[in-house]
Amino acid sequence: MAMPSLAQLRRLKERGEPVATLTAYDASFAARMDEAGVDLLLVGDSLGMVVQGFETTVPVTLDAMVHHTAAVRRGSGQRPVIADLPFLTFGDPATALNAAGRLMQEGGAHGVKLEGGGPVVEIVAELTRQGVPVCAHLGLLPQTVFKLGGYRVQGRGEEAGEALLAEARALEEAGADLLVLEAVPAEVAGKVRRALTIPVIGIGAGPDCDGQVLVAYDALGLTPGGGPAFSRDFLAATGSIPAALAEYVRAVKAGDFPGPEHTLA
Ligand code: KIV
Ligand code: NA
Repeated sequence: MAMPSLAQLRRLKERGEPVATLTAYDASFAARMDEAGVDLLLVGDSLGMVVQGFETTVPVTLDAMVHHTAAVRRGSGQRPVIADLPFLTFGDPATALNAAGRLMQEGGAHGVKLEGGGPVVEIVAELTRQGVPVCAHLGLLPQTVFKLGGYRVQGRGEEAGEALLAEARALEEAGADLLVLEAVPAEVAGKVRRALTIPVIGIGAGPDCDGQVLVAYDALGLTPGGGPAFSRDFLAATGSIPAALAEYVRAVKAGDFPGPEHTLA
């Protein structure tokens, strides 16, 4: 029997079909996303901001991630589900393995996502050796917001773009099955996606990616102030949540989203 897996998404890249991804935090949304044809559900630690009401993702606990991942899995059918390793749960291999174990064994995730390159490459390698499917995450790393001093575009300029490409290659080499690129110039995302065989899923990274991901609450216009500039309110255009989710999938697959107005230079 075929299992939901991150590996199945590589076939979409191979045939040039964009991977439509959304964040999910509960069973009802997960079930609607499954019906709408969303290829991958991400239990993002963005739940700290959009569900729990924190200002950043830093306060999100592993317990909260396990709780929401289990809820999502009760609605997600045969769709692959990945869950974020929250802030400070992957600093060394033993800690990362413990956290990934909880997300997969208690939460039922099919894999985990973790932010960063550099020292994170070794962690990805160890998770991979132990059989944990991994989604890497480069560009804007929201868990580091207190170091960055704000949320802003990453990988601008030739040197930064090259450094990002090198980290992406190292993460693929270490065994990552997927890569999320957040808030990077479209040109940088395109270079990375062409250099890697694993799918590169963009958010605020322009159209030249192997797939797209949005925080579902942004895509439904729920976020106060309208959400980030790279998002679109799919609910306003369609009038119902199931129709909005289906339109998101259609727009990503057709290359209609993101458009030039959602793309950072
Ligand atoms: O937590 C999250 O929602 C994420 C996506 C925006 C990629 O990491
Ligand atoms: Na996240």
